Amino acid sequence: MANNTLSSLLPILLASSTLFFFTTLSTAKTHDRFSKTLSPQKLGLNKQKLTHLHFYLHDTLSGKNPTAIKVAEAKTTNTSSTGFRTVVVMDDPLTEGPEPSSKLVGRAQGLYALASQNEIGLLLVFNYVFIKGEYNGSTLGILGRNAVFSTVSKVREFPIVGGTGIFRFARGYAQARIHKVDPKTGDAVLEHSVYAFHY
Ligand SMILES: *[C@@H]1O[C@H](CO)[C@@H](O)[C@H](O)[C@H]1NC(C)=O
Ligand SMILES: *[C@@H]1O[C@H](CO)[C@@H](O)[C@H](O)[C@H]1NC(C)=O
Repeated sequence: MANNTLSSLLPILLASSTLFFFTTLSTAKTHDRFSKTLSPQKLGLNKQKLTHLHFYLHDTLSGKNPTAIKVAEAKTTNTSSTGFRTVVVMDDPLTEGPEPSSKLVGRAQGLYALASQNEIGLLLVFNYVFIKGEYNGSTLGILGRNAVFSTVSKVREFPIVGGTGIFRFARGYAQARIHKVDPKTGDAVLEHSVYAFHY
């Protein structure tokens, strides 16, 4: 099809439902400055790997240096038995073993909101930010829910929605179990087990 025939057809195409077909056809043929189709191999995306990570998260609410701090609540939050409408920001260390002195492998940075009216239900939005070895600088993004006192299962599970560095194109899930919790302060050590597909 000659170019001028194409441009005279353009208004009709724009007005019709064949627009989708037209744009598909034209991007397949041309490379413009904005977009192009790449082969995954060109980005070094050859074989998908499955990585398992295991570490402990230290969530400290009490003392001089808390790692999770309430930053916001509504005027009416104190009327809710579930803390509904509270927002907490955290920067929790991740270590190889359960002891706080154990080797640091990264941090969990982000926030959680108490998002349930009927039970303690957290909306979690955070990144695992790794510093250990080849993972230094890479992150995994979590968007999940934690029904803290749910008795359905002792294991909490959160989706991995993406990642950076080594974990580009990541997807997977993380499981968390309580290792130790201080009932007075709420300070907790949680065992995390992470399964991530990536390249
Ligand atoms: C909640 O806090 C407000 C002040 O922000 C106070 O006026 C109100 O009495 C409190 N309600 C309860 C149930 O404690
Ligand atoms: C991680 O990388 C940064 C920047 O290259 C470096 O300064 C730091 O020492 C590294 N950390 C570890 C634990 O290797």
